[in-house]
Amino acid sequence: MSRIIAVANQKGGVGKTTSCANLGGALAEMGRSVLLVDMDARGDLSSYFGVGTEGREATVYEALFDESVEMGEIVVEVGGGLEVAAADIDLAGAALLLADMEFGERQQVVKEGLAGVGERYDFVLLDLPPGLELLSVAALGAADEVIIPQQCSFLALHGLRQVQKSIERLQEVNAKVRICGILLTMQDRRTVHHREVMRMVREAFGELVFDTVIPQTIRFQDAAIAHQTITEYDRNSEAAKVYRAVAQEVLERG
Ligand SMILES: Nc1ncnc2c1ncn2[C@@H]1O[C@H](COP(=O)(O)OP(=O)(O)O)[C@@H](O)[C@H]1O
Ligand SMILES: [Mg+2]
Repeated sequence: MSRIIAVANQKGGVGKTTSCANLGGALAEMGRSVLLVDMDARGDLSSYFGVGTEGREATVYEALFDESVEMGEIVVEVGGGLEVAAADIDLAGAALLLADMEFGERQQVVKEGLAGVGERYDFVLLDLPPGLELLSVAALGAADEVIIPQQCSFLALHGLRQVQKSIERLQEVNAKVRICGILLTMQDRRTVHHREVMRMVREAFGELVFDTVIPQTIRFQDAAIAHQTITEYDRNSEAAKVYRAVAQEVLERG
């Protein structure tokens, strides 16, 4: 059975796409078969791996909404044992189509889109856009689990209430969805308050928080520019080690 995990947070710029790519890369390195699905019309995950959609006849949009296109047909190998289903701005049209559907039908769209490929992979990671728009809601309907990346500094500034609200909203959308974990990202170890932030978060969310915290480092951008996961780009780096550690935790939480 594959584990379908949505990487979600209502906020942008918190490390969703980076975590999707690098957690996927680390799981693949550990011998798991992994499909990454770009669910964001900005196509950031696709760009990360340099998968262009120009000249391509079908993307995630067609795989979800065109009955003659299967998800399996649009998947491309990107190295490091990873496969990616790419998206582009066409996916913005999904909101219109989903708006015409009833809630129940809408919640089946992504689930059915993945039905043909799901069993081929150990992990299917869905890279969600920020916000809880209809496509995100539909993606959450297909997910067994959610990983919520959360920027450390954001927690310090705006408190934990936002995270709690996100969890509640996710569970409103899909009552069966399990929180795989809250992943703290972009930790700046030079700031004095980071330990305090860690303590607050762990106190509030306990086991839901991954033990591993992702440090802030330019290496992630360097890897993205090279269209590689950090485990490929700089396999002995601290940055690679942390995503391996997250992957290990995800395996243990399965
Ligand atoms: N741990 C990190 N350290 C430094 N920069 C990071 C880290 N994680 C992500 N970034 C950078 O921050 C920006 C936003 O990250 P991204 O993963 O695209 O967030 P989201 O998908 O939530 O919008 C990107 O430029 C990315 O390279
Ligand atoms: Mg993103």
